[in-house]
Amino acid sequence: MSGLANRKILLGVTGGIACYKSAVLLRALQEAGAELRVVMTPAAQAFVTPLTFQALSGHDVYTELLDPSQEAAMDHISLARWADLVLIAPASADFMARIANGMANDLLSTLCLATESQVVLAPAMNRVMWLNPATQDNLQRLLARGYLCWGPDEGEQACGESGPGRMLEPEALCQQAVSHFGNGVLDGVNVLMTAGSTREPIDPVRFVGNRSSGKMGYALAQSMRDLGADVTLISGPTSLAAPAKIVSIRVETAEEMHASVMEHVDSCDIFVAVAAVADYRPSLVAADKIKKNKEILTLELVRNPDILAEVAAMEHPPFTVGFAAETEQIEHYADEKRRRKRLNMIAANRVGSDEGGFESEQNALILLWQDAREELPMMAKSQLAQRLAERIAEQYNASI
Ligand code: CTP
Repeated sequence: MSGLANRKILLGVTGGIACYKSAVLLRALQEAGAELRVVMTPAAQAFVTPLTFQALSGHDVYTELLDPSQEAAMDHISLARWADLVLIAPASADFMARIANGMANDLLSTLCLATESQVVLAPAMNRVMWLNPATQDNLQRLLARGYLCWGPDEGEQACGESGPGRMLEPEALCQQAVSHFGNGVLDGVNVLMTAGSTREPIDPVRFVGNRSSGKMGYALAQSMRDLGADVTLISGPTSLAAPAKIVSIRVETAEEMHASVMEHVDSCDIFVAVAAVADYRPSLVAADKIKKNKEILTLELVRNPDILAEVAAMEHPPFTVGFAAETEQIEHYADEKRRRKRLNMIAANRVGSDEGGFESEQNALILLWQDAREELPMMAKSQLAQRLAERIAEQYNASI
């Protein structure tokens, strides 16, 4: 198996008897081609020594947050950025509770807070602890924030009981990691994306804009990257940090976004327009702040370029994917948009309702492409992005 070639995996080991299986997991991930670094919590070291993982990985094992020598080798922020995937195996009930509360009281929990990469839990604990509402509640909070959970398995437990709570076997976890990276289905593929919203200035302090947090676009950019793509993300203003291992370009207005897309589009294979671009901009931008000395203020707006339509109309267009935010007749309007703009795919979502949409951590989508459709139900935006990225990759690969 070489499905993890060039993937950097940070293996987090927390306290539990399943720790001994983590050594086998480390070997399996390495044999699949991954590069590994290991972080152990103090409780994990009561079960297995760091020396075991050091000997197997060929690298020092990270155990301390405030150790100058370990920080000198690779400080915790660099380690958090280094990883393509953080796999916590085993993930104990205590560790899940700590990260669910955003605690950073040891190196591993700090890394979970500091990383922008996918964090995956492989829980291992007694069945009663697993089924306890406190643990289930922590799990739900982590899933809603975009964590993934692989397992646990059911069966005989170290404590002599039988039920859910066994860590997945190392081979099964390794297989999950290979599937997560989609066998590199987008290796070498250039993806250009837009995200966030644009701001069209009225005067030096005011603007016309759309509601969009940028969360969906950023999550999708990360999922495309995880499938092996080289991603360039052109983003309007957002509070989100630039994702690791993605070329990030910040713009403000629709015209700037248009210019930046046109500069990069020739070298891209897939173009995904997630941005909520302002369709119009003020025809004149006041040099000074407009004073409120009129009862009625009229703004004249002129059309902005339709970036997605222009890309799709190129002589040799990339594979184009658009988004449609609709308040009613979602599928009808979205499909009309897909045909009119000559898109390969469109992802439609309902806006203006209580659930999902702009600021939410969750969303649901209807995907439409040539004579086919798929509904992706309400789920965390990170999970939704992964499903969408897989479908785009599949359709792109089928089209070449
Ligand atoms: N889009 C774009 N450039 C624009 C406007 C929209 O690239 N100037 C892209 C968006 O990123 C999104 C899709 O087009 O992928 C949205 O389509 P659009 O027709 O603009 O949606 P609406 O503005 O909602 O259209 P309508 O008002 O016709 O419903």
